[in-house]
Amino acid sequence: MKKNRVEEDVCILAIESSCDETAAAVVKNGREVLSNVISSQIALHTLYGGVVPELASRKHMEKINQVVEAALDEAHMALEDITAVAVTYGPGLVGALLVGVAEAKAIAYGAKKPLVGVHHIEGHVSANFIEHEDLEPPFICLIVSGGHTHLVVVKDYGEFEILGRTRDDAAGEAFDKVARAVGLGYPGGPKVDRAAKKGNPQAIHFPRAKVEGAPYDFSFSGLKSAVLNYINHAKMMGEEIQVADLAASFQHAVVEVLVSHTVEAAVELGYGKVAIAGGVASNSALRDEMRKACKRRGLKLYYPSPVFCTDNAAMIGTAGYYEYINGARSGWDLNAVPNLKLGER
Ligand code: KG4
Ligand code: ZN
Repeated sequence: MKKNRVEEDVCILAIESSCDETAAAVVKNGREVLSNVISSQIALHTLYGGVVPELASRKHMEKINQVVEAALDEAHMALEDITAVAVTYGPGLVGALLVGVAEAKAIAYGAKKPLVGVHHIEGHVSANFIEHEDLEPPFICLIVSGGHTHLVVVKDYGEFEILGRTRDDAAGEAFDKVARAVGLGYPGGPKVDRAAKKGNPQAIHFPRAKVEGAPYDFSFSGLKSAVLNYINHAKMMGEEIQVADLAASFQHAVVEVLVSHTVEAAVELGYGKVAIAGGVASNSALRDEMRKACKRRGLKLYYPSPVFCTDNAAMIGTAGYYEYINGARSGWDLNAVPNLKLGER
């Protein structure tokens, strides 16, 4: 186990701007969130049915100073009270990441504080530490967001072994595309989740893809195509689409694969703790099914509150804390790395 205790309080000012949320937070000693400010760009991107990278960067530039100031204010802190500045430097949209990285560098340099670059996925995983005092590595974690679907062993703070990943679309991406196809709009995940509550998950059978020779990998493009074919066929036949049934059946197909891979990995590899993370981890069916499956197999399940599932800076502050106390420091040449791999520095 790496060192995870220090004598003095460590307060991290954290910044996150990898996609469509401009966020800043102050986190004390890794698990105490003193402030968590999120400026969402959803209203802006809804007009276009998805995130427009150029607009995202501009909006981040407009909001970042306000968000950082609000995070410090809410935490009743001035810059001199901060121990270090942590920032997401990848993966994500390059222009969006650059805004956060430049802001963090400027603040850290001006205030003479250490700078810590944080991997966005490590942030999502770390969101689980915020509300679960008892959670410590090792455990199995399923990370499901708009850009990523990974099944990993969290071996220690900041140390991951990747068991599986998606071969094509991310789980959240599949939710967003299906939502758009049935006219539910952007962002699709929460809308499909809501519509599915009134539908029958057994109404339409959609395929569950297995990846040959890679039991923990995922593939969602076949499922997405099956949903689109179903919609096109219904339209051609002049049949009305039952949106609630379609949403519930699609969601059921995604959730079944996510749950079975995760639980099988925990049982086969002998881990007693399972966590879920990322925007899709706030999906109500995923939470319910994962809870039931973990209970059946005697596994302890952890998940963050919805506000810590979708992009936020508190999770970056938590990850940044563990990186900081383990000695990680970034140079003033820290750059945005849009395709940063998990485990890479
Ligand atoms: O983690 P996140 O905020 O951003 C990325 O790092 O990608 O995840 C956003 C994704 C979107 O695809 C969104 O549709 C999905 O998470 N999402 C959901 C739900 N809430 C957000 N998917 C399914 N059900 C939800 N309740
Ligand atoms: Zn994310």
